[in-house]
Amino acid sequence: MSKAQGTFYITTPIYYPSDSLHIGHAYTTVAADAMARYKRMRGYDVFFLTGSDEHGQKIERKAIAAGLAPEAYVDQIVEGFKHLWKRLEISNNDFIRTSEARHQKVVQEIFQKIYNQGDIYKAEYEGWYCTPCETFWTERQAEDQVCPDCGRPVELLKEESYFFRMSKYQDRLLEHIATHPEFIQPVSRRNEMINFIKQGLEDLCVSRTTFQWGIPVPFAPGHVVYVWFDALVNYLTAIGYTTDAAMFNRYWPADVHLVGKDIVRFHTVIWPIILMAAELPLPERVFGHGWLLLEGGKMSKSKGNVIDPLVLIDKYGVDAVRYYLLRELPSGLDGYYSEEALVKRINTDLANDLGNLVSRTLAMVERYCDRKIPQPGELEPVDREVIELAQTVGQETENLLDNLELSNALAAIWKLVGRCNKYIDEMAPWALARDVANQTRLNTVLYVMAESLRQVTILCTPFMPLFPERVWGQLGLEGKEELQTWDSLRWGLLPAGTIVKRGASLFPRIEFKEVLEGAENPVKSEKKGSPDKSPKEEMVKEKPAVGQKIKYEDFAKLDLRIAQVIEAQKVEKADKLLQLKVDLGGEQRTIVAGVAQHYRPEELLGKKVVLLANLEPTKIRGIVSEGMLLAASDDQSLEVLTLHKELDPGAKVK
Ligand code: ME8
Ligand code: MG
Repeated sequence: MSKAQGTFYITTPIYYPSDSLHIGHAYTTVAADAMARYKRMRGYDVFFLTGSDEHGQKIERKAIAAGLAPEAYVDQIVEGFKHLWKRLEISNNDFIRTSEARHQKVVQEIFQKIYNQGDIYKAEYEGWYCTPCETFWTERQAEDQVCPDCGRPVELLKEESYFFRMSKYQDRLLEHIATHPEFIQPVSRRNEMINFIKQGLEDLCVSRTTFQWGIPVPFAPGHVVYVWFDALVNYLTAIGYTTDAAMFNRYWPADVHLVGKDIVRFHTVIWPIILMAAELPLPERVFGHGWLLLEGGKMSKSKGNVIDPLVLIDKYGVDAVRYYLLRELPSGLDGYYSEEALVKRINTDLANDLGNLVSRTLAMVERYCDRKIPQPGELEPVDREVIELAQTVGQETENLLDNLELSNALAAIWKLVGRCNKYIDEMAPWALARDVANQTRLNTVLYVMAESLRQVTILCTPFMPLFPERVWGQLGLEGKEELQTWDSLRWGLLPAGTIVKRGASLFPRIEFKEVLEGAENPVKSEKKGSPDKSPKEEMVKEKPAVGQKIKYEDFAKLDLRIAQVIEAQKVEKADKLLQLKVDLGGEQRTIVAGVAQHYRPEELLGKKVVLLANLEPTKIRGIVSEGMLLAASDDQSLEVLTLHKELDPGAKVK
């Protein structure tokens, strides 16, 4: 079987609908989207897939905690995924949900096929499991009974299961990696994986019996397919494996599975072995990009420090958010997110560099050439240098994108943007315009500027899908698609005589002060709600007035949970503070609460309290407090809110 020429099949991970997505997930999907758009511009028949990974114990537990059936629980979150992708202008060709019937069928067929041929067998599983990562670990790997990947506690499992004979394929996999250097990228991850495989592959437990939320093993009632086996097969389902041979042969093997470095191992060990056992070709390339970090470390829902991409899109626009993400994460390496850095990028790269190139070019064509793109005269060496640079940058962008080096590709394009701005400064069209004798030279300079702008806009199109339309409108090329294609990246196609229409500035500068005072920022609303009290006011004892009205959505942002106090102790040298350990139903947190003057530690033990679970963690007296207890108080006393009936820890308070 060989794949049709000129096709490009790219996938993102299918994300867990256990929480809403944050900018880390947005990064992967935007990067895959930029690649898909680029390949479409290059004339490829592109299939770009994303979706949701809905089964497994983690999701089942989340659903139970939310008091919903798993189907209902995932439905609402998956709607959120789709909404986010729409807002981010993601051009996926399909969205696969692993709960769909089409997927269940394919998973069952592959599972059966591998079983029939003897690579899946039954045995007793005894070992450790990390539910957040949905990963099995051996005694040795799960040292101290924590997950070696995420550091969270693992659970002991003992159940009758089906096993996948991965060990049998170890040598074939190593051989494949050795003979296909492009299979695992970047190279650092490739070496990591080779070392991992060389330590020896154990057979993988691929069925579970202790929960229901999964695809039934076709020949074994009570068993559901292990969620990673189920999830990886999505890449086959969506392109018609066993249902549409023509489509399947057209797109398989995938050209790129784009994933974060956390799941490279699943994609380069388990996945290829499933494919080998199913006698299917392996994907061309698995690219494991780096991690988008916050100054405080990793983003995670449990830390309460996730950044919502929708808020950023509302504030800064989709092009700016996409540009920032793609530019900031160095290819293959980790990068840091901060809103300050985002605003800096918008102000320098977009407002200053790109925005100025657009507005200066259009303003000068308007002013000095009566709104018409002029006919250029004889080219001078400096003009040729810019023209050549446009050409090399185009070539460089292609090479870099073929290696998925998106950040470097943007840096290359910005070399051209920078050179164009410098060209304008050097040529000083405003000075040329003072003497009619210079009109021909002025025409040439303005033409070089406008034609460079056309090319820059084409180069930016895969990354920033909205801004090109606005440039085309201003440059008078609306609807002239033949001048907006990648193929038209050839010098001189911009027709003289085109009438430009200068419009609003494309990327207005953002004052960082505005950011701090933005509507979404808690700093400001806090100030509004409680103006500094003068000492006099503080003396007057009165019932606090009911605060400003809020919308239900504001309230819904608070993730309030029932938590059971399982440990309580005084914080040394702090007479107001207690340090508590609370159970949230499967998750434990440490909380520092200012209640020590009202409760002795033992009074709180076993109590079911209300916890604000999504408050950003803070360090208090050197202890990281991961949430806040709710308590009511007046001047004299304070009472922690508690629950008296039988709700379990983890229950939501609404
Ligand atoms: O692992 N920086 O789903 P998931 C960069 N369902 N990328 C990040 C990131 C960050 N801080 N956080 C998340 C799963 N990602 C499985 C996948 S595929 C067959 C099954 C991105 O919801 C990154 O792409 O935990 C990472 O690999 C993925 O989200 C994990 O998403
Ligand atoms: Mg994950």
